[in-house]
Amino acid sequence: MAVTLIKNGHIVTAADSYVADILVEGEKIKAIGQNLPADGHNVVDAGGKYVFPGAIDVHTHLDLPFGGTVAADDFYTGHVAAAFGGTTTHIDFAIQGKGETLKQAVENWHARADRKAAIDYGFHIAITDLPESVMREIPKAPDYGVTSLKLFMAYKGSLMVDDGTLFNSLMVARDSGMLICVHAENGDAIDVLVKKMQAEGKLEPIYHALSRPHFAEAEATARAAALAMIAGSPLYVVHMSCASAVEQLRWARETGAPIMGETCTQYLFFTEDDLRKPNFEGAKFVCSPPMRTKFDQDALWKAIAVNDLQAVSTDHCPFNFKGQKDLGKEDFSKIPNGVPGIEDRLKIMYSYGVTPGKISLNRWVELLSTNPAKIFGLYPRKGTIAVGSDADLVIWDPNKEQTISAFNHHMNVDYNLYEGWHVKGMPEKVFLRGRLIVDGDSWYGEQGKGEYLCREKFSHAM
Ligand code: URP
Ligand code: ZN
Ligand code: ZN
Repeated sequence: MAVTLIKNGHIVTAADSYVADILVEGEKIKAIGQNLPADGHNVVDAGGKYVFPGAIDVHTHLDLPFGGTVAADDFYTGHVAAAFGGTTTHIDFAIQGKGETLKQAVENWHARADRKAAIDYGFHIAITDLPESVMREIPKAPDYGVTSLKLFMAYKGSLMVDDGTLFNSLMVARDSGMLICVHAENGDAIDVLVKKMQAEGKLEPIYHALSRPHFAEAEATARAAALAMIAGSPLYVVHMSCASAVEQLRWARETGAPIMGETCTQYLFFTEDDLRKPNFEGAKFVCSPPMRTKFDQDALWKAIAVNDLQAVSTDHCPFNFKGQKDLGKEDFSKIPNGVPGIEDRLKIMYSYGVTPGKISLNRWVELLSTNPAKIFGLYPRKGTIAVGSDADLVIWDPNKEQTISAFNHHMNVDYNLYEGWHVKGMPEKVFLRGRLIVDGDSWYGEQGKGEYLCREKFSHAM
Protein backbone atom coordinates (compact mmCIF):
# COMPACT_ATOMS: atom_id res chain seq x y z
CA MET A 1 0.00 0.00 0.00
CA ALA A 2 1.39 3.43 -0.95
CA VAL A 3 2.32 5.57 2.03
CA THR A 4 2.89 9.31 1.72
CA LEU A 5 4.01 11.69 4.42
CA ILE A 6 3.06 15.32 3.86
CA LYS A 7 5.40 17.26 6.10
CA ASN A 8 5.04 20.60 7.85
CA GLY A 9 1.96 21.82 6.03
CA HIS A 10 -0.25 24.51 7.52
CA ILE A 11 -3.45 22.48 7.83
CA VAL A 12 -6.67 24.45 7.58
CA THR A 13 -10.09 22.96 8.19
CA ALA A 14 -13.40 24.67 8.90
CA ALA A 15 -12.52 24.65 12.60
CA ASP A 16 -8.72 24.55 12.91
CA SER A 17 -5.49 26.00 11.65
CA TYR A 18 -2.18 24.42 12.70
CA VAL A 19 1.13 23.12 11.38
CA ALA A 20 1.52 19.33 11.34
CA ASP A 21 2.42 16.28 9.26
CA ILE A 22 -0.19 14.10 7.57
CA LEU A 23 0.43 10.40 7.02
CA VAL A 24 -1.56 8.99 4.13
CA GLU A 25 -1.85 5.22 3.83
CA GLY A 26 -3.62 3.96 0.73
CA GLU A 27 -6.71 6.12 0.23
CA LYS A 28 -7.08 7.35 3.81
CA ILE A 29 -5.52 9.71 6.30
CA LYS A 30 -3.82 7.43 8.78
CA ALA A 31 -2.27 9.90 11.23
CA ILE A 32 -1.84 13.62 11.88
CA GLY A 33 0.88 14.82 14.22
CA GLN A 34 4.14 16.60 14.83
CA ASN A 35 7.40 15.11 13.55
CA LEU A 36 5.91 11.89 12.21
CA PRO A 37 8.75 9.53 11.17
CA ALA A 38 9.53 9.35 7.46
CA ASP A 39 10.28 5.57 7.65
CA GLY A 40 11.18 5.41 3.96
CA HIS A 41 7.79 6.75 2.86
CA ASN A 42 7.27 9.07 -0.05
CA VAL A 43 7.80 12.47 1.62
CA VAL A 44 6.17 15.65 0.31
CA ASP A 45 7.46 18.89 1.80
CA ALA A 46 4.53 21.26 2.42
CA GLY A 47 6.53 23.80 4.47
CA GLY A 48 5.20 27.32 3.89
CA LYS A 49 2.10 25.93 2.14
CA TYR A 50 -1.45 25.42 3.26
CA VAL A 51 -3.08 22.00 3.22
CA PHE A 52 -6.85 22.05 2.67
CA PRO A 53 -9.42 19.28 2.34
CA GLY A 54 -10.28 18.74 -1.34
CA ALA A 55 -13.08 21.09 -2.33
CA ILE A 56 -16.58 19.87 -3.10
CA ASP A 57 -18.77 21.44 -5.75
CA VAL A 58 -22.35 20.35 -5.16
CA HIS A 59 -23.80 22.09 -8.20
CA THR A 60 -22.50 21.16 -11.64
CA HIS A 61 -23.88 20.19 -15.04
CA LEU A 62 -21.42 18.09 -17.02
CA ASP A 63 -22.47 16.75 -20.42
CA LEU A 64 -25.93 18.27 -19.90
CA PRO A 65 -28.28 18.47 -22.90
CA PHE A 66 -29.86 21.90 -22.41
CA GLY A 67 -31.15 24.85 -24.43
CA GLY A 68 -30.85 23.00 -27.76
CA THR A 69 -27.23 21.98 -27.24
CA VAL A 70 -25.00 20.08 -24.78
CA ALA A 71 -22.79 21.55 -22.05
CA ALA A 72 -19.22 21.71 -23.35
CA ASP A 73 -17.46 19.84 -20.53
CA ASP A 74 -17.98 16.12 -20.19
CA PHE A 75 -17.09 14.05 -17.14
CA TYR A 76 -13.43 13.88 -18.13
CA THR A 77 -12.68 17.44 -19.22
CA GLY A 78 -14.79 18.79 -16.36
CA HIS A 79 -12.97 16.59 -13.87
CA VAL A 80 -9.51 17.59 -15.09
CA ALA A 81 -10.50 21.26 -14.81
CA ALA A 82 -12.02 20.75 -11.36
CA ALA A 83 -8.88 19.01 -10.11
CA PHE A 84 -6.55 21.74 -11.38
CA GLY A 85 -8.68 24.14 -9.37
CA GLY A 86 -8.53 22.06 -6.16
CA THR A 87 -11.96 20.41 -6.40
CA THR A 88 -11.84 16.65 -5.85
CA THR A 89 -15.55 15.85 -5.51
CA HIS A 90 -18.68 17.16 -7.18
CA ILE A 91 -22.36 16.38 -7.32
CA ASP A 92 -23.97 16.58 -10.73
CA PHE A 93 -27.63 16.73 -11.66
CA ALA A 94 -29.00 13.58 -13.32
CA ILE A 95 -31.99 14.98 -15.21
CA GLN A 96 -35.03 12.74 -15.38
CA GLY A 97 -36.43 12.82 -18.92
CA LYS A 98 -40.21 12.93 -19.37
CA GLY A 99 -41.64 9.45 -18.84
CA GLU A 100 -38.45 8.13 -17.23
CA THR A 101 -38.09 6.52 -13.84
CA LEU A 102 -35.57 7.93 -11.37
CA LYS A 103 -33.51 4.77 -11.80
CA GLN A 104 -33.30 5.40 -15.54
CA ALA A 105 -32.18 8.98 -14.91
CA VAL A 106 -29.37 7.76 -12.65
CA GLU A 107 -28.37 5.04 -15.13
CA ASN A 108 -28.21 7.62 -17.92
CA TRP A 109 -25.85 9.75 -15.86
CA HIS A 110 -23.74 6.74 -14.90
CA ALA A 111 -23.36 6.01 -18.60
CA ARG A 112 -22.03 9.56 -19.08
CA ALA A 113 -19.66 9.43 -16.11
CA ASP A 114 -18.47 5.92 -15.31
CA ARG A 115 -15.57 5.46 -17.71
CA LYS A 116 -14.58 9.13 -17.82
CA ALA A 117 -14.56 10.13 -14.17
CA ALA A 118 -11.20 11.27 -12.81
CA ILE A 119 -12.41 12.77 -9.51
CA ASP A 120 -15.11 11.50 -7.14
CA TYR A 121 -18.72 12.33 -7.86
CA GLY A 122 -22.29 11.84 -6.81
CA PHE A 123 -25.65 12.64 -8.34
CA HIS A 124 -28.72 14.59 -7.39
CA ILE A 125 -31.78 13.66 -9.43
CA ALA A 126 -33.54 16.60 -11.09
CA ILE A 127 -37.18 15.61 -11.26
CA THR A 128 -39.18 16.90 -14.21
CA ASP A 129 -42.05 14.40 -14.37
CA LEU A 130 -43.75 13.15 -11.22
CA PRO A 131 -46.62 10.70 -11.80
CA GLU A 132 -47.73 8.53 -8.86
CA SER A 133 -45.30 5.77 -9.88
CA VAL A 134 -42.29 8.11 -9.67
CA MET A 135 -43.54 9.57 -6.38
CA ARG A 136 -43.51 6.01 -5.02
CA GLU A 137 -39.98 5.60 -6.33
CA ILE A 138 -38.53 8.57 -4.39
CA PRO A 139 -37.88 6.54 -1.19
CA LYS A 140 -35.82 4.13 -3.31
CA ALA A 141 -33.41 6.84 -4.52
CA PRO A 142 -31.01 6.25 -1.56
CA ASP A 143 -30.62 2.68 -2.92
CA TYR A 144 -29.14 4.32 -6.03
CA GLY A 145 -26.80 6.38 -3.82
CA VAL A 146 -28.87 9.53 -4.31
CA THR A 147 -30.20 11.41 -1.28
CA SER A 148 -31.13 14.77 -2.81
CA LEU A 149 -33.56 15.80 -5.52
CA LYS A 150 -33.80 19.05 -7.45
CA LEU A 151 -37.06 20.56 -8.59
CA PHE A 152 -37.25 23.52 -10.93
CA MET A 153 -39.75 26.31 -10.23
CA ALA A 154 -38.62 27.93 -13.52
CA TYR A 155 -38.06 26.93 -17.18
CA LYS A 156 -41.79 26.76 -17.97
CA GLY A 157 -42.60 24.19 -20.63
CA SER A 158 -39.46 22.12 -20.06
CA LEU A 159 -38.17 21.51 -16.52
CA MET A 160 -40.64 23.46 -14.36
CA VAL A 161 -42.89 21.65 -11.89
CA ASP A 162 -46.04 23.04 -10.25
CA ASP A 163 -46.49 23.74 -6.53
CA GLY A 164 -48.50 20.55 -5.94
CA THR A 165 -45.63 18.49 -7.33
CA LEU A 166 -43.10 20.38 -5.24
CA PHE A 167 -45.19 20.04 -2.09
CA ASN A 168 -45.81 16.33 -2.60
CA SER A 169 -42.11 15.73 -3.16
CA LEU A 170 -41.24 17.64 -0.01
CA MET A 171 -43.55 15.40 2.01
CA VAL A 172 -42.23 12.19 0.50
CA ALA A 173 -38.64 13.40 0.87
CA ARG A 174 -39.18 14.21 4.54
CA ASP A 175 -40.22 10.62 5.21
CA SER A 176 -37.32 9.09 3.30
CA GLY A 177 -34.33 11.15 4.48
CA MET A 178 -34.00 13.01 1.21
CA LEU A 179 -33.12 16.68 0.76
CA ILE A 180 -35.11 18.67 -1.77
CA CYS A 181 -33.16 21.33 -3.69
CA VAL A 182 -35.04 24.00 -5.60
CA HIS A 183 -34.27 26.34 -8.44
CA ALA A 184 -36.36 29.17 -7.07
CA GLU A 185 -37.67 31.57 -9.70
CA ASN A 186 -41.31 32.23 -10.59
CA GLY A 187 -41.38 30.51 -13.98
CA ASP A 188 -44.93 31.69 -14.86
CA ALA A 189 -44.15 35.38 -14.37
CA ILE A 190 -40.85 35.04 -16.21
CA ASP A 191 -42.59 33.34 -19.13
CA VAL A 192 -44.97 36.29 -19.46
CA LEU A 193 -42.11 38.80 -19.27
CA VAL A 194 -40.00 36.94 -21.83
CA LYS A 195 -42.88 36.91 -24.32
CA LYS A 196 -43.57 40.60 -23.70
CA MET A 197 -39.95 41.54 -24.37
CA GLN A 198 -39.85 39.42 -27.51
CA ALA A 199 -43.06 41.12 -28.75
CA GLU A 200 -41.46 44.53 -28.13
CA GLY A 201 -38.37 43.54 -30.12
CA LYS A 202 -36.15 43.58 -27.02
CA LEU A 203 -33.90 40.71 -27.97
CA GLU A 204 -30.37 41.48 -26.74
CA PRO A 205 -28.71 39.51 -23.88
CA ILE A 206 -29.53 42.19 -21.27
CA TYR A 207 -33.22 41.31 -21.62
CA HIS A 208 -32.43 37.90 -20.17
CA ALA A 209 -31.72 39.70 -16.88
CA LEU A 210 -34.57 42.19 -17.24
CA SER A 211 -37.11 39.41 -17.83
CA ARG A 212 -36.06 37.64 -14.61
CA PRO A 213 -36.47 40.30 -11.87
CA HIS A 214 -35.15 39.63 -8.40
CA PHE A 215 -38.70 39.63 -7.01
CA ALA A 216 -39.36 36.50 -9.10
CA GLU A 217 -36.56 34.79 -7.21
CA ALA A 218 -37.57 36.19 -3.81
CA GLU A 219 -41.20 35.14 -4.29
CA ALA A 220 -40.26 31.59 -5.33
CA THR A 221 -37.78 31.31 -2.45
CA ALA A 222 -40.44 32.34 0.07
CA ARG A 223 -42.96 29.96 -1.53
CA ALA A 224 -40.55 27.01 -1.49
CA ALA A 225 -39.58 27.76 2.11
CA ALA A 226 -43.22 27.99 3.17
CA LEU A 227 -44.07 24.70 1.46
CA ALA A 228 -41.06 23.05 3.12
CA MET A 229 -42.15 24.34 6.51
CA ILE A 230 -45.72 23.09 5.99
CA ALA A 231 -44.33 19.71 4.94
CA GLY A 232 -41.83 19.69 7.81
CA SER A 233 -39.11 18.96 5.28
CA PRO A 234 -35.55 20.26 4.91
CA LEU A 235 -34.86 22.43 1.87
CA TYR A 236 -31.78 23.66 0.02
CA VAL A 237 -32.16 26.62 -2.34
CA VAL A 238 -29.59 26.49 -5.14
CA HIS A 239 -27.80 29.34 -6.90
CA MET A 240 -29.19 32.26 -4.88
CA SER A 241 -28.35 35.54 -6.55
CA CYS A 242 -30.00 38.45 -4.76
CA ALA A 243 -30.58 40.24 -1.47
CA SER A 244 -34.37 39.91 -1.55
CA ALA A 245 -34.26 36.11 -1.92
CA VAL A 246 -31.64 35.77 0.83
CA GLU A 247 -33.94 37.86 3.03
CA GLN A 248 -36.69 35.25 2.54
CA LEU A 249 -34.27 32.48 3.41
CA ARG A 250 -33.19 34.32 6.54
CA TRP A 251 -36.83 34.71 7.56
CA ALA A 252 -37.40 30.98 7.13
CA ARG A 253 -34.21 30.05 8.99
CA GLU A 254 -35.12 32.30 11.89
CA THR A 255 -38.06 29.98 12.59
CA GLY A 256 -35.50 27.23 13.19
CA ALA A 257 -36.52 25.35 10.06
CA PRO A 258 -33.76 23.27 8.37
CA ILE A 259 -33.67 25.52 5.33
CA MET A 260 -30.35 26.22 3.66
CA GLY A 261 -29.02 27.97 0.60
CA GLU A 262 -26.00 28.40 -1.62
CA THR A 263 -24.77 31.12 -3.86
CA CYS A 264 -22.36 30.64 -6.76
CA THR A 265 -19.05 32.36 -7.38
CA GLN A 266 -20.28 34.36 -10.35
CA TYR A 267 -23.03 36.12 -8.39
CA LEU A 268 -20.39 37.57 -6.08
CA PHE A 269 -18.46 39.22 -8.92
CA PHE A 270 -20.65 40.11 -11.89
CA THR A 271 -23.70 42.31 -12.40
CA GLU A 272 -26.39 42.66 -15.01
CA ASP A 273 -24.20 45.34 -16.62
CA ASP A 274 -21.98 42.50 -17.83
CA LEU A 275 -24.92 41.36 -19.96
CA ARG A 276 -24.84 44.78 -21.67
CA LYS A 277 -21.35 44.15 -23.10
CA PRO A 278 -21.23 44.95 -26.84
CA ASN A 279 -20.82 42.52 -29.75
CA PHE A 280 -23.02 39.93 -28.04
CA GLU A 281 -20.31 39.45 -25.36
CA GLY A 282 -23.07 39.82 -22.75
CA ALA A 283 -24.22 36.31 -23.73
CA LYS A 284 -21.17 34.91 -21.93
CA PHE A 285 -22.79 35.95 -18.64
CA VAL A 286 -26.26 34.55 -19.32
CA CYS A 287 -27.33 32.14 -16.61
CA SER A 288 -30.41 31.73 -14.45
CA PRO A 289 -31.05 33.38 -12.09
CA PRO A 290 -29.26 36.24 -13.83
CA MET A 291 -26.42 38.37 -12.53
CA ARG A 292 -27.87 41.15 -10.36
CA THR A 293 -26.47 44.40 -8.91
CA LYS A 294 -23.64 45.63 -6.68
CA PHE A 295 -26.20 45.91 -3.87
CA ASP A 296 -26.99 42.21 -4.25
CA GLN A 297 -23.31 41.27 -4.34
CA ASP A 298 -22.73 43.08 -1.05
CA ALA A 299 -25.70 41.27 0.50
CA LEU A 300 -24.38 37.89 -0.72
CA TRP A 301 -20.91 38.53 0.73
CA LYS A 302 -22.49 39.36 4.05
CA ALA A 303 -24.76 36.30 3.85
CA ILE A 304 -21.90 33.86 3.29
CA ALA A 305 -19.88 35.47 6.09
CA VAL A 306 -22.65 35.27 8.71
CA ASN A 307 -24.06 31.86 7.66
CA ASP A 308 -27.30 33.15 6.16
CA LEU A 309 -25.99 31.13 3.19
CA GLN A 310 -24.13 27.89 3.83
CA ALA A 311 -22.23 27.05 0.64
CA VAL A 312 -20.64 28.50 -2.48
CA SER A 313 -20.76 26.29 -5.56
CA THR A 314 -20.34 27.00 -9.27
CA ASP A 315 -23.43 25.82 -11.20
CA HIS A 316 -20.77 24.99 -13.81
CA CYS A 317 -22.71 24.68 -17.05
CA PRO A 318 -20.38 25.80 -19.86
CA PHE A 319 -21.39 26.69 -23.40
CA ASN A 320 -18.94 27.95 -26.02
CA PHE A 321 -19.32 31.57 -27.06
CA LYS A 322 -18.87 30.52 -30.68
CA GLY A 323 -21.29 27.80 -31.76
CA GLN A 324 -23.41 27.56 -28.63
CA LYS A 325 -24.15 30.91 -26.94
CA ASP A 326 -24.72 32.33 -30.42
CA LEU A 327 -27.83 30.16 -30.81
CA GLY A 328 -29.42 33.18 -29.15
CA LYS A 329 -27.85 35.85 -31.35
CA GLU A 330 -31.26 36.96 -32.60
CA ASP A 331 -33.21 36.27 -29.38
CA PHE A 332 -31.91 36.26 -25.81
CA SER A 333 -34.33 33.49 -24.80
CA LYS A 334 -32.44 31.07 -27.05
CA ILE A 335 -29.04 31.69 -25.44
CA PRO A 336 -28.17 28.47 -23.57
CA ASN A 337 -28.31 29.32 -19.87
CA GLY A 338 -25.16 28.62 -17.91
CA VAL A 339 -21.59 29.73 -17.24
CA PRO A 340 -18.26 27.97 -16.69
CA GLY A 341 -16.47 28.07 -13.33
CA ILE A 342 -15.59 24.63 -11.93
CA GLU A 343 -11.85 25.39 -12.21
CA ASP A 344 -11.90 28.93 -10.87
CA ARG A 345 -13.94 28.78 -7.66
CA LEU A 346 -11.16 28.27 -5.10
CA LYS A 347 -8.68 30.68 -6.68
CA ILE A 348 -11.23 33.46 -7.11
CA MET A 349 -12.78 33.04 -3.67
CA TYR A 350 -9.30 33.01 -2.11
CA SER A 351 -7.82 36.03 -3.88
CA TYR A 352 -10.98 38.12 -3.89
CA GLY A 353 -12.65 36.80 -0.72
CA VAL A 354 -10.04 35.63 1.78
CA THR A 355 -7.17 37.95 0.88
CA PRO A 356 -9.20 41.18 1.20
CA GLY A 357 -10.68 39.86 4.47
CA LYS A 358 -14.27 39.35 3.32
CA ILE A 359 -14.28 35.79 4.69
CA SER A 360 -11.78 33.96 6.88
CA LEU A 361 -9.69 31.07 5.62
CA ASN A 362 -11.64 28.67 7.85
CA ARG A 363 -14.93 29.96 6.49
CA TRP A 364 -13.61 29.57 2.93
CA VAL A 365 -12.92 25.87 3.67
CA GLU A 366 -16.32 25.55 5.32
CA LEU A 367 -18.23 27.09 2.41
CA LEU A 368 -16.34 25.27 -0.34
CA SER A 369 -15.80 21.86 1.25
CA THR A 370 -17.06 21.12 4.75
CA ASN A 371 -20.64 22.38 4.61
CA PRO A 372 -21.26 20.86 1.18
CA ALA A 373 -20.01 17.50 2.54
CA LYS A 374 -22.21 17.75 5.62
CA ILE A 375 -25.35 18.90 3.85
CA PHE A 376 -25.08 16.29 1.10
CA GLY A 377 -24.21 13.18 3.13
CA LEU A 378 -20.47 12.92 2.47
CA TYR A 379 -19.07 13.97 5.85
CA PRO A 380 -16.67 13.00 7.41
CA ARG A 381 -15.46 10.83 4.54
CA LYS A 382 -15.05 14.08 2.59
CA GLY A 383 -14.89 17.74 3.59
CA THR A 384 -12.27 17.65 6.31
CA ILE A 385 -8.75 16.59 7.24
CA ALA A 386 -9.09 13.94 9.95
CA VAL A 387 -7.83 10.46 10.69
CA GLY A 388 -10.01 8.02 8.71
CA SER A 389 -11.16 10.58 6.14
CA ASP A 390 -10.37 10.17 2.45
CA ALA A 391 -6.98 11.65 1.67
CA ASP A 392 -8.40 14.27 -0.70
CA LEU A 393 -5.87 17.01 -0.07
CA VAL A 394 -4.88 20.26 -1.70
CA ILE A 395 -1.42 21.66 -1.07
CA TRP A 396 -1.92 25.35 -1.68
CA ASP A 397 0.86 27.77 -2.48
CA PRO A 398 -0.24 31.18 -1.14
CA ASN A 399 2.44 32.93 -3.19
CA LYS A 400 1.91 31.36 -6.58
CA GLU A 401 0.39 33.82 -9.04
CA GLN A 402 -1.60 33.40 -12.22
CA THR A 403 -3.59 35.42 -14.70
CA ILE A 404 -6.79 33.56 -15.40
CA SER A 405 -7.51 33.02 -19.06
CA ALA A 406 -9.25 30.73 -21.52
CA PHE A 407 -5.78 30.24 -23.02
CA ASN A 408 -4.47 28.47 -19.92
CA HIS A 409 -7.57 27.00 -18.29
CA HIS A 410 -8.47 23.31 -18.56
CA MET A 411 -12.22 23.71 -19.04
CA ASN A 412 -13.38 22.70 -22.51
CA VAL A 413 -14.93 26.07 -23.27
CA ASP A 414 -13.71 28.97 -25.38
CA TYR A 415 -14.00 31.74 -22.80
CA ASN A 416 -13.45 32.38 -19.12
CA LEU A 417 -15.70 34.67 -17.08
CA TYR A 418 -12.66 35.90 -15.15
CA GLU A 419 -10.47 36.51 -18.21
CA GLY A 420 -7.44 38.61 -17.23
CA TRP A 421 -8.10 38.46 -13.48
CA HIS A 422 -4.97 38.13 -11.41
CA VAL A 423 -4.88 35.60 -8.57
CA LYS A 424 -2.28 35.02 -5.88
CA GLY A 425 -2.67 31.67 -4.15
CA MET A 426 -3.45 28.46 -6.02
CA PRO A 427 -3.13 24.69 -5.81
CA GLU A 428 0.36 23.24 -6.11
CA LYS A 429 -0.46 19.57 -5.58
CA VAL A 430 -3.83 17.82 -5.46
CA PHE A 431 -4.38 14.32 -4.04
CA LEU A 432 -7.49 12.24 -4.64
CA ARG A 433 -7.84 9.42 -2.12
CA GLY A 434 -4.08 9.44 -1.60
CA ARG A 435 -3.12 9.56 -5.28
CA LEU A 436 -1.33 12.59 -6.64
CA ILE A 437 -3.46 13.78 -9.58
CA VAL A 438 -2.17 17.34 -10.09
CA ASP A 439 1.39 18.54 -9.57
CA GLY A 440 1.95 22.10 -10.75
CA ASP A 441 1.01 22.13 -14.44
CA SER A 442 1.18 18.34 -14.76
CA TRP A 443 -1.80 16.01 -14.80
CA TYR A 444 -1.47 12.53 -13.31
CA GLY A 445 -5.15 11.66 -12.95
CA GLU A 446 -6.78 8.95 -15.02
CA GLN A 447 -10.14 8.43 -16.67
CA GLY A 448 -12.21 5.86 -14.82
CA LYS A 449 -10.40 6.34 -11.50
CA GLY A 450 -13.01 8.71 -10.09
CA GLU A 451 -15.40 6.92 -7.75
CA TYR A 452 -19.18 7.17 -7.62
CA LEU A 453 -20.21 8.19 -4.10
CA CYS A 454 -23.29 6.63 -2.53
CA ARG A 455 -24.34 9.40 -0.16
CA GLU A 456 -25.82 9.14 3.32
CA LYS A 457 -29.36 10.31 4.02
CA PHE A 458 -29.84 13.94 5.02
CA SER A 459 -28.94 14.63 8.66
CA HIS A 460 -26.87 17.81 8.89
CA ALA A 461 -28.81 21.09 8.78
CA MET A 462 -26.32 23.96 8.81
O1 URP B 1 -28.26 29.01 -16.04
C1 URP B 1 -28.14 27.98 -15.40
N1 URP B 1 -28.15 28.06 -14.09
N2 URP B 1 -27.97 26.81 -16.04
C2 URP B 1 -27.90 25.54 -15.47
C3 URP B 1 -29.25 24.98 -15.12
C4 URP B 1 -29.73 25.48 -13.79
O2 URP B 1 -30.78 26.11 -13.73
O3 URP B 1 -29.10 25.24 -12.77
ZN1 ZN C 1 -31.18 25.95 -11.65
ZN1 ZN D 1 -27.60 24.42 -12.14
